[in-house]
Amino acid sequence: MGAPVTVRGRFISIEGGEGVGKSTQIAALAAFITQQRFEVIVTREPGGTEGAEIIRQLVLGGSAERWMPRAEALLFAAARSDHVERLIEPALASGKWVISDRFIDSSRAYQGVGSGLSDTDIMTLHQIGSRGMLPDRTLILRLDTKEAASRAAARDQNQPDRIQGRTEIFHSDVDMAFVSFAEREPRVRLVDASGAADAVTARLLTEISDLLEPA
Ligand code: TMP
Repeated sequence: MGAPVTVRGRFISIEGGEGVGKSTQIAALAAFITQQRFEVIVTREPGGTEGAEIIRQLVLGGSAERWMPRAEALLFAAARSDHVERLIEPALASGKWVISDRFIDSSRAYQGVGSGLSDTDIMTLHQIGSRGMLPDRTLILRLDTKEAASRAAARDQNQPDRIQGRTEIFHSDVDMAFVSFAEREPRVRLVDASGAADAVTARLLTEISDLLEPA
């Protein structure tokens, strides 16, 4: 008899604009998946490893003008590269599930809007940094942009970070970019984030139910 084969874990990314309730939903999703007897790691981007958390401070802190769009896109790609290589890949290989608060689709949406960089450019950086790795499922939480903005402002006491502080038009373009990914890519699902938290969790679970079935 050979050694037992470890079944690779599943990788889920959670995306959406600011203030859509990602943290609450990620905690609920992780609790549910743990109940199904899988080991789950919750992580975030930019961040998740020591180096990537340092890049997070560099890229989200400081003035709006601190980084030009190309440098900003490279920094997000560098943070992701470290995160994938040191944390996400080893966890999946050892059979754990990984839920990441944001991943490549945030770069495609945020750095893709008004930066002069195309989706192909951003995916090229991702190919170099992280071998183009994609999640098994990407859940995009969507809420009316005005409601989401007021929730985010309340949460952050009106002290937005470099990216959050951009205009309402920017954030609505980001939302439209997320919608366009879901229209073209089956791994990407839009989830209505309005209403009670439990109802939102139920919608998310529907979108991952196939992943929970034995392979
Ligand atoms: P959050 O942790 O509150 O979601 O904030 C992270 C911010 O960074 C958010 O404004 C989205 C932005 N971001 C990008 O612009 N590009 C990226 O690739 C990622 C992961 C995040």
